[in-house]
Parts: sequence; C-alpha cells; structure tokens
Amino acid sequence: MATFTLPKNSKIRKTGEVHEALTGGKTRSFKVYRYDPDSGENPRYDTFKIDTEDCGPMVLDALIKMKSEQDATLTFRRSCREGICGSCAMNIDGKNGLACTTAIEDCGKEVKITPLPHMEVVKDLVPDFTHFYAQYASIQPWLKTVTPTPSGKERLQSPEDRAKLDGLYECILCACCQTSCPSYWWNSDKFLGPAILLQAYRWLADSRDEMTGERLDELEDPFRLYRCHTIMNCANACPKGLSPAKAIAEIKKMTAAREI
Ligand code: SF4
Ligand code: SF4
Ligand code: FES
Repeated sequence: MATFTLPKNSKIRKTGEVHEALTGGKTRSFKVYRYDPDSGENPRYDTFKIDTEDCGPMVLDALIKMKSEQDATLTFRRSCREGICGSCAMNIDGKNGLACTTAIEDCGKEVKITPLPHMEVVKDLVPDFTHFYAQYASIQPWLKTVTPTPSGKERLQSPEDRAKLDGLYECILCACCQTSCPSYWWNSDKFLGPAILLQAYRWLADSRDEMTGERLDELEDPFRLYRCHTIMNCANACPKGLSPAKAIAEIKKMTAAREI
C-alpha cells in the first residue's frame, strides 16, 4: 500500500481562537483559516462572531470588521471593494469568489473562509501569486506588431473586431478559475491554466496583433494548452461571468486549423 507524507504545516490544528461579538445584534459565525509561517505552528481555524446588524453586507466588510475590532493580525488582500482589482479572491463556503462581491446573506450559517486552494500561503488568506504572474508574463500579454504605424497615428480596429474582445478583456486576474481547475492543481508547473489561457486568447483574438503564429507555436504543447479537459469548473468559478473554457476551446480550434 502506498503511503504519503503530508507536506510540513499542512495539517490543521484542532484548537483555534474564538473571538466573541462586541455588540449584541444578529450574530453570525465565521470560521477563518489562520496560518503564520514565521510562527512555525500548523494552521488553525479561528472563529469570529460578528454582529451583522453593525456590519456592511459583504464578506469583505466582515473581514475588515474582524481585523479592525477583534484581531489586527488577520491578513488578507483587498483594494477596490467593488470587484475590479481581483485582490480579495478567496474560498468562501467551498467556492472561490471575491469577498467584496459575496453577500454574507448568501453564505451558510457558519461562513467558512480559506485562501484560494492549491497555492502556497504567504499568511492567513494571502496566497503566493509569484508562479501565477510568471505564467502570465510568459504569454507576453501586450500588443505585438511588426508593421510600423505612421508616426502619431493610432492602430485602429473596426467595431466588429473590437467586439471580439468582449468576454476577454474584463478578466481581473483574480485566479478564482485557475485555482478551481483540477487539471491545474496537478500540473500547475507546466499547464498554463484557465486564467492565463484566457489572457493568451485575448491577444490571439485581437485584430491588431501580428504575432498569431508565434503565439500559437508557444502554446501548442501537450501540457501548456492541452491539459485542459473541458471540466468547466473555471467558468463556474469566474466572478466576472467569463468562460475561460470557451477561450481555451477557441485556441484549440486555431491550432487545429493550422494543421489542415
Ligand atoms: S475547462 Fe479546462 S481550464 Fe477549465 S476547469 Fe476544466 S480543465 Fe480546467
Ligand atoms: S477569467 Fe474570471 S476567474 Fe479567471 S482570473 Fe479572469 S476574472 Fe478571475
Ligand atoms: S477588493 Fe477588489 S475585487 Fe474585491
């Protein structure tokens, strides 16, 4: 029988801290993943009780309240507070999403909050995006051209061609899709994953880009592109309603069309 050794600090401790609500309105419990690599201790779940009548409506409001009133060491990312920056991506009640656009009311009785799955944890709810950003850089996410434009002129695009970027440019690189993809969990060293492939297609679909062939050469690989098995978890997880699976299917169509 095969035996597996769990990586260091992967077992969750049974004892977490309980932070009682400071005011006595309508109380809701949040079980929040806590991990501080500097402490040398294993992770734990802390319970935070929040008076939701004295709190904003979103999960991010509850996290901000916990940090400002109950435990200042609680660590998470956030910036825009309106689903634009992608910083507050985390797993809420078992589903990846944005804390700032997830209503407390739509969560379970005890809201369970963990970092995005299958990523190294920097601290508490903050995952390490180093590898994700390196993969993003690898697809060269900028307009690449060889034809010079007359000086001072813009590179124009028809409204029809511009419309082809709808459903692609809205991606906020939150990684909700990336970390919900089973294929990415097991092959993240080589498979680019749904978010990065959607971004790759964003440049392939741009009528102004002149490096389509080179971009497809880079992607056409059994791991980088073809580890996607159309499981569709990515489309299910995207808080912006995008479909990375569809973008990946379009890239596969483009590579197949070259072979005919
Ligand atoms: S469709 Fe492809 S990228 Fe999306 S979750 Fe499934 S395997 Fe991953
Ligand atoms: S496709 Fe959606 S889930 Fe994936 S990174 Fe972009 S916005 Fe986030
Ligand atoms: S804080 Fe920017 S997306 Fe949530």
